[in-house]
Amino acid sequence: MANVDPVKVGVLFSETGTTSTIGLSQLKGTLLAIEEVNEAGGINGRELVPVCLDPQSNPLVYTQLASRLILEEGVNVIFGCYMSSSRKAVVPVIEKWNKLLFYPTLYEGFEFSNNLIYTGAAPNQNSVQLAEFMTNHFGARIFLIGSDYIYPYESNRIMTDLVLQKSGAAKLGEHYVELAATEADFGPIMKEIRDQRPDFIFSTVVGNATASLYRAYAEAGFDPKTMPIASLTTSEAEVHQMGADVAEGHFTSAPYFQSIDSDANRRCLARFQRRFGSDCVPNQCWEAAYFQVHMFANAMREVGSDEIAELMPHVLTQEFNAPQGRVRIDPRNHHTCLYPRIGRANSEGQFTIVREAKRAVHPDPYLVTYSLGDWTAELDMLP
Ligand code: ACM
Repeated sequence: MANVDPVKVGVLFSETGTTSTIGLSQLKGTLLAIEEVNEAGGINGRELVPVCLDPQSNPLVYTQLASRLILEEGVNVIFGCYMSSSRKAVVPVIEKWNKLLFYPTLYEGFEFSNNLIYTGAAPNQNSVQLAEFMTNHFGARIFLIGSDYIYPYESNRIMTDLVLQKSGAAKLGEHYVELAATEADFGPIMKEIRDQRPDFIFSTVVGNATASLYRAYAEAGFDPKTMPIASLTTSEAEVHQMGADVAEGHFTSAPYFQSIDSDANRRCLARFQRRFGSDCVPNQCWEAAYFQVHMFANAMREVGSDEIAELMPHVLTQEFNAPQGRVRIDPRNHHTCLYPRIGRANSEGQFTIVREAKRAVHPDPYLVTYSLGDWTAELDMLP
């Protein structure tokens, strides 16, 4: 008799706390894909059943809930995590029990686990392109502002190394703020920026503090035409939080923007809106959360098991027509081939794509082989 038992999967995204705007979008992107899998007959007739827990943007709670999913709910696969501090809190649990985590978020790279699949951008798929774009268009005198945890420290180190390859480059400042930072906390930093006059600001601020940073910038009267903020994390969701007028003119490097002009993207956005309405704003982390579920489901259909030893060889050969383009897992490092893009926030709260790769760029999470100009095949659309 065919196995018709449901397949429980863990879903661990923050529905509350400072990164809940993105966490909720990742949760809903995951649930949309799970519903699509089930509507298409599940995994060979077996229904996917999500077990969703809220880790509250708190790494300690992530550790506890990952353990609960594995030991009490009996899941073999977890989809989850936004902040790198939360991934770092979950990895030891996943490795201890030899389970599988799908992580749908851009991050600082320099990590590998046999128990992880990384579907967000590695630094050679967003930072390298952003460094090149910003230094070519604005200059190489950089000022860095980040939230106080591992992704900003490491991402700022990478960005600094990239930018300092340019002639005339200088690091004019580097500051870290609490995750709960308010507009007032950015006041003294804006004063320093006024004195230093960098060519651009690189922000690794995440969560609710992102809106406070951009508002403090606008309040200081700075002009994005001459000294924009560049980021890897400020997506349509953060733009929605701060307001399109505050975000307009600033740049983000990401493999996915809602504005991508393709049928796959438009259809996915329309299905999402029909199912979840418009208060949850799709963004790069939503897209990765969505397509990674389909990759998992397709791998499990091939092998009929979600036990990591059987499933992993099939996960490592997956490709999928994602909203950003056809993506593929790189079996050498468990990261994903993605399409680097640069977007400039516009007056509609969307990103106008000003440059994009024609072909997917292989992930190089340890930055072993990369160069500042590496766009694979590039299209420069900035007038
Ligand atoms: C991040 O912490 N990986 C955005």
